[in-house]
Amino acid sequence: MSKTKQLSESFGETRYQLSGHGKRNIAVLKDAFLQIEGDLQSDMYGSGKIMEDFQDKFANLLGKESAVFFPSGTMAQQIALRIWCDEKGIHKVGYHPLSHLEIHEEDGLKELHPIETVLLADKNRVVELEDIKNLKADVACVLLELPQREIGGQLPTYETLEQISSYCRNEGIKLHLDGARLLEVLPYYKKTAAELSALFDSVYLSFYKGIGGIAGAILAGNQEFINKSKVWKRRYGGDLISLYPYTLSADYYYEKRKNKMSTYYHDAKELAAYFNRCPNTTTLPEIPVSNMFHVHFHKPKEHMEGMLTEIHAATKIGITSYVREIDEQGCYFEVSLGDNYSSISKDALVETFTLLHKKMI
Ligand SMILES: Cc1ncc(COP(=O)(O)O)c(C=O)c1O
Repeated sequence: MSKTKQLSESFGETRYQLSGHGKRNIAVLKDAFLQIEGDLQSDMYGSGKIMEDFQDKFANLLGKESAVFFPSGTMAQQIALRIWCDEKGIHKVGYHPLSHLEIHEEDGLKELHPIETVLLADKNRVVELEDIKNLKADVACVLLELPQREIGGQLPTYETLEQISSYCRNEGIKLHLDGARLLEVLPYYKKTAAELSALFDSVYLSFYKGIGGIAGAILAGNQEFINKSKVWKRRYGGDLISLYPYTLSADYYYEKRKNKMSTYYHDAKELAAYFNRCPNTTTLPEIPVSNMFHVHFHKPKEHMEGMLTEIHAATKIGITSYVREIDEQGCYFEVSLGDNYSSISKDALVETFTLLHKKMI
């Protein structure tokens, strides 16, 4: 068996895991429906009280006039950018080189609309005001991803966000927030979701990242924008006849976890410090600014796969199911703190990191 497979299997056999909320099994949906009455009316093709109440609740949370539920963030964001491009009559947007749209969506934005993209900033850092000021082309919209996932979940300062927001408003550039992990960054910024969203013209929030629901996203903005997004949702086939399995479970897990984001953030800082005390190990960022970070091992991927497999077997604590190669000398993986971390005893953590420390010398 390959070392990659051994690592993944050994992780599956651990009793506790550092990351996440637990297994993504069918119980996640079953638990969400335990208290729900069977005679509740389903939504129909995006309308009905159950859907309207849900959308109003999240429009309110995000401080926007209106909101609409989408089965995926991929669909929601391509549509949001298309609407802003049509409004401005410029089919060009700016975003980070490692944004989800650029690297994980098979060029949907470019192929389906088509919208041209301008890559802002160096891929190893977050977007700054200067990157937008230095744009050579006219763009209809700038998308900011908070936190910037592919670089460990880094964030610009709040002052930078305010400056970018007011610059874009003055220049007539729409600002869209890829807030897949919006709730997870609020403890660092010490802001409410509505305060942060006020800097943006449109906002997307995911229900299955820190919230831990089944799938789906909310897109929020002014009424005209949301009316247009509903037309596009229909065109994309996003109006499933019933979406309540997603919205009811999204609401259940939102209520369950909305007040836990500070705990996840503090746990992330504690866990990153454990990693940083090990030789040849660093986290990105060094001090997390949300519930997520990347762990970089300055040893070859295959070597780390063997080592982590041994640690899993010895401690029953799951560090990661995979590592990705950076180059011949190093590899990394992503950590997102959730409910799992608090179920691990301090003694078990210390034992795990003592072992990792010894092996990393
Ligand atoms: C930053 C970011 N934006 C957008 C998306 C797309 O979300 P979805 O999987 O719901 O299409 C993701 C999903 O991982 C993401 O991480």
